[in-house]
Amino acid sequence: MTFRSYLVSSLMLSLVSVSAMASSVEVLHWWTAGGEAKAANVFRSYWQALGNEWQDSAISGGGGKSAMTVLKSRALSGTPPEAAHLKGSELQEWAALGFLRNLDHVARQGEWEKVLPEFVQHSVQSKGHYVAVPVGIHRVNWLWVNPQVFARYQLTPPETWPQLLTIARKLKQAGITPLAIGDDQWQLNILFEAIVLGEGGSDFYRRAFVQLDQTTLQSDTMLHLLELFHQLRDYISDDYGDIKWNQATHMLVEGSAAMQLMGDWVKGELTAANVIPGKDILCLPAPGTNGKFSYNLDSIAMFDVKDHQKQQAQLQLANMIMTADFQQAFNRVKGSIPVLQQQPLTSFDHCAQNSAQQLQQAIKEQQLVPSMAEGMANSSYVRLAIGDVLSGYFNNPDGDAKLAARQLARAVLSAQR
Ligand code: GAL
Repeated sequence: MTFRSYLVSSLMLSLVSVSAMASSVEVLHWWTAGGEAKAANVFRSYWQALGNEWQDSAISGGGGKSAMTVLKSRALSGTPPEAAHLKGSELQEWAALGFLRNLDHVARQGEWEKVLPEFVQHSVQSKGHYVAVPVGIHRVNWLWVNPQVFARYQLTPPETWPQLLTIARKLKQAGITPLAIGDDQWQLNILFEAIVLGEGGSDFYRRAFVQLDQTTLQSDTMLHLLELFHQLRDYISDDYGDIKWNQATHMLVEGSAAMQLMGDWVKGELTAANVIPGKDILCLPAPGTNGKFSYNLDSIAMFDVKDHQKQQAQLQLANMIMTADFQQAFNRVKGSIPVLQQQPLTSFDHCAQNSAQQLQQAIKEQQLVPSMAEGMANSSYVRLAIGDVLSGYFNNPDGDAKLAARQLARAVLSAQR
């Protein structure tokens, strides 16, 4: 079904039933960069096509730090939005505090247990109950490459981290910024988790970031990974302190930078700028991560509200998100892939098709890991503790790997208490 026919049939349905009960929901999210905003617009259009009203609470700031601060003060003052983009550990924490609506009934009716992959089901459940609706699956471990820059200097994209360092050295000599990145903690976390997954491997990654094993966090392997991370300081731009993730993507598109390590929301940004992902900018596995998949699952949680009409609207929104049609339209623009199993991806770009293939392979070969940087692997306290240590270490020109490893282990331990 095309979006136009979806609109027509939804409008017909709405004419019959909705005029008397058109509802309004407020949706809080941080999808404000070019590609993200386009995806949020798809969301809004689908909702409005049902005859409803959309109150947009868009809080800018990639990674959602500011959005989470606003959400906290809204909830504490007793005026939470009806719906919010909440995921991973933050979702779990809000659910444990009793703020979120139980969605088991919608899940049963929609047979979520049949249509969703197991890891998706678990991510949106708290203590065995559904507390959010999954929107899309992002793969975090991507390397985005400007092929023209590589061709100009006769370079081949790296498949390992040592190769990446060699290439970075050559690019720097040629006056190109090898790696586009900003100084946000979460951007640095993404870079570091890509190194841990690629050089350390999935088992090491799980021991470090899921089990938070003290010995692993201070192991020789960890020292090596931290050293590698620190070496990348030489290959980022001087003004990296001010760069947002989407500005980094534009540096790549313009060719002032050659590579970016980032999740596939980059693709939304590319498409919005009429750049073809997989052709104009290549999507490759982060070095050493072919067949591995670090996932970030976007989801919408519904806050417990008293108003009956609002409650009905929440259910309608949940059902809409789970339709194949919405999943296709939204994820095509957002850069992610649908959460529903066995969805045809023929109308998606090459990178999305590759992401789906890598996901299946990773599930089969136990190479699927939750993204630490995106809050899928452990509590928000642990993630922030890791982020503090990593950014302190990275930003210090004299950063000492041994000390950083010790601090990492200690910070993780105290964040767990
Ligand atoms: C992630 C979020 C993505 C994305 C990104 C950058 O946390 O899950 O949907 O857009 O932040 O803002």
